[in-house]
Amino acid sequence: MNIALLGSGGREHTLCQKIFDSKLSKNIICIPGNAGTSKIAKNINIDMLDFKKLLKVIKFYKINLVIVGPEEPLVRGVVDFLLKNKIKVFGPNKYAAKLEGSKAFMKSLCKKNNIPTAEFKICRNKNDVNNFLKKNIFPLVVKADGLAAGKGVTICRNKKQVLKVSDEIFKGKFKSSKKLVLEEFLEGEEASYFLLVDKKSFKFFGSAQDHKKVGEKDTGPNTGGMGAYSPAKIVTQDLEKKIIKKIVSPTLKALKQKRKNYTGFLYVGLMIKNNEPFLIEYNVRMGDPECQVILPRLNTDLVKIISYAVKNKLNTIDIKWKKIKCMTIVLCSKGYPGKYKKFIKINNLMNIKLKKNSFIFHAGTKYINDDIFSNGGRVLNITSVGKTFKKIRFNIISIIKKINWRSGFFRKDIGWRVIQNK
Ligand code: AMP
Ligand code: GLY
Repeated sequence: MNIALLGSGGREHTLCQKIFDSKLSKNIICIPGNAGTSKIAKNINIDMLDFKKLLKVIKFYKINLVIVGPEEPLVRGVVDFLLKNKIKVFGPNKYAAKLEGSKAFMKSLCKKNNIPTAEFKICRNKNDVNNFLKKNIFPLVVKADGLAAGKGVTICRNKKQVLKVSDEIFKGKFKSSKKLVLEEFLEGEEASYFLLVDKKSFKFFGSAQDHKKVGEKDTGPNTGGMGAYSPAKIVTQDLEKKIIKKIVSPTLKALKQKRKNYTGFLYVGLMIKNNEPFLIEYNVRMGDPECQVILPRLNTDLVKIISYAVKNKLNTIDIKWKKIKCMTIVLCSKGYPGKYKKFIKINNLMNIKLKKNSFIFHAGTKYINDDIFSNGGRVLNITSVGKTFKKIRFNIISIIKKINWRSGFFRKDIGWRVIQNK
């Protein structure tokens, strides 16, 4: 099978590796890919949001299946477009992708279906904001309605801050939407829960915990994710039943009733409080860096699973997991998530010899001639599997020390919730 994978991050290098390892894959193209994917697939540097060009490339390379990594093409309707052109693709349609593409859509769906989530108000102007402020206590969370590249959520401590952030959104700070969602702040522990969904059923696809704040002890501004581990200890069987019953099933049913069935990866972003799950967000894709810690634990051929899902036969496949733990630490460019320099050479990377239990998944990297250069804020995902998170983390940090990239930094405390005596 010839496969096209859309995206260029650590998530895509991880997916690409699993596709490469599959017995079912033949040629793989990655659009646009990164330095890591270029070693196992053919990178094609076109704009994946230019659907017409994308279709041309897909036809030229005789692609049998398209797998979509990031949210933006999904939210813009790449699945609808490709299906109309008779190309097999794994991912949600444009309507279902609004679960991530519009916070207002997602929250309204929750309200209509009694799905546990933070109290909220969809605001279109300052009046709406002031009304919500009268009834609620701080902190409060302001969320841009549309896609905002991870920069749309602000936790506000006072009225002045809420008004300032809201005003910026109403004035069009984010091109995707001028609406916002103002919501109650939820205390608790976060977890990411993943599913594969087709028109008939869904299957568990791993749990993980991400570390979104840039600084150790979860301090500083939010990032795309500084590191993750899987499985998430907090996601017990009892909790999982509640997640399915109270959150996932009513969501999928609501979409089905609109005749807009969900298919694809589904990322359920949760806040857990007193062993009760609350939905913080839906993402219509795998997480990044959660994908980097879930796929190394997968013991069933990924391409086989996705092929079954595309045929709506997920209910007939048994997805197996290795009984190991996995962690990834993201090596970032100094300055991230603020300003950082690009195109800095990563000298030692080529000389690193990894044991079987460790992987380096590229994110923001690029080959220039035969050298690897940084090309983004999150640059490399150093990943390892093993029996205890403490040993795994020790192993990852020793690899990062060998890479010794002077222009990078990383969090040394990934997994602090599950590693006691540090
Ligand atoms: P989101 O893009 O909605 O996932 O928000 C990004 C991050 O903001 C989440 O991962 C949480 O850490 C935090 N966050 C979002 N909404 C809330 C909330 N209602 N209460 C507490 N923290 C939140
Ligand atoms: N790790 C957070 C995300 O993928 O959105």
